[in-house]
Amino acid sequence: MLFITSKYLKPGMILAKDIFLYNNSNFNTLLLTRGQVLNNTFIDRMIYHEIDGAYIESDAFEDIKPDSCIDEVLKSKSLRRIKDVYNEFKVSSGKINTSEIRQLSSVVSDLVNELFYKEDLTYNIMDFKNFDSNTYQHCLNVAILSISTGISMGLTEHMLHELGMAGLLHDIGKMTVPLEILNKPGKLTEEEFALMKSHPTNAVNQLRNIVSFSVLSGIQSHHEKLDGTGYPHGLSGKNIHLYAKILAVCDVYDALTSDRSYRISAFPSEVVEYVMGCVDTHFDYDILTNFLKVIVAYPIGTFVRLSDKNIAVVVKNNPENIMRPVIRIINEDGTVGDDIDLLYDKSYMDITITDMAYDYDGNGLAGVLKSTIGMKIKTS
Ligand SMILES: [Fe+2]
Repeated sequence: MLFITSKYLKPGMILAKDIFLYNNSNFNTLLLTRGQVLNNTFIDRMIYHEIDGAYIESDAFEDIKPDSCIDEVLKSKSLRRIKDVYNEFKVSSGKINTSEIRQLSSVVSDLVNELFYKEDLTYNIMDFKNFDSNTYQHCLNVAILSISTGISMGLTEHMLHELGMAGLLHDIGKMTVPLEILNKPGKLTEEEFALMKSHPTNAVNQLRNIVSFSVLSGIQSHHEKLDGTGYPHGLSGKNIHLYAKILAVCDVYDALTSDRSYRISAFPSEVVEYVMGCVDTHFDYDILTNFLKVIVAYPIGTFVRLSDKNIAVVVKNNPENIMRPVIRIINEDGTVGDDIDLLYDKSYMDITITDMAYDYDGNGLAGVLKSTIGMKIKTS
């Protein structure tokens, strides 16, 4: 299957995966089912719901089957629980009862169980792109990424559970920060930024006797940076709790790869470059090394542009180096070329991926696309 952005979806294309709606009022609402032949109404509906794109059946890419991080039932259950706890925090001005936290804890146990026994921990960002960018989704993504990084680091099950709790609760303090400040497109005033910076402490003050000290430490320090330039306390190096250091990199990665009201998302590959550039200043080297094993720079099934101007589709990732995946070239005439392993194939060492080809305009890819996947487009 291939991931096609909504803008380039055409009537006749066949959906290769179910499409669910996740937003404030709808959790796990099935919008379109796998096998559905798209028509203009369906495509318009996807665009209306701001769905980035969809996996489409393609004969030439039949072998590409992106795995989901967690199953849909657990995803919707998790989002519902996070929403309940966060809303409770908001309406009760920070008061929260232990039964809500117990329910959240059971969600974390399910997440740890599911992720712990997965053969491939790779986080499929495309599974998480079709949602409204809201705090609940962000917290679930951060929890999944943190638990996965923790598994890669060999943390105990107990620690993974604490890390997951800290991930789900890390931004709950934002519920008492006014929305105008959270979503402000421009620069925050000093006063507004001070309010924003209070969200970790807001959370910790209210959760003090409800969750463990380690979970509190993770929440309290998730905006601290290794070099002491973070907030709220300007802690550095060893003084920052391990959980907070893990949350920090997952938080930044998810925030930058998601659309916000004040900016559009960056490509995963750009964010990978960014976080790698912040090693030892913002992020811990060992944690980052493990984090880079559970994410991908170029999601499989997506288009990339190469330094020799060719367009290719990512067919497999190399966990040893996420910047050099296995790709399948799309020829000028729309036929599909050989697979090239950018990491191990010596004759292609000089080829680099220059960017993700999400935008097919201006390079003839639209035509290529049509002929490449045309064979699986139904005409009647
Ligand atoms: Fe935060």
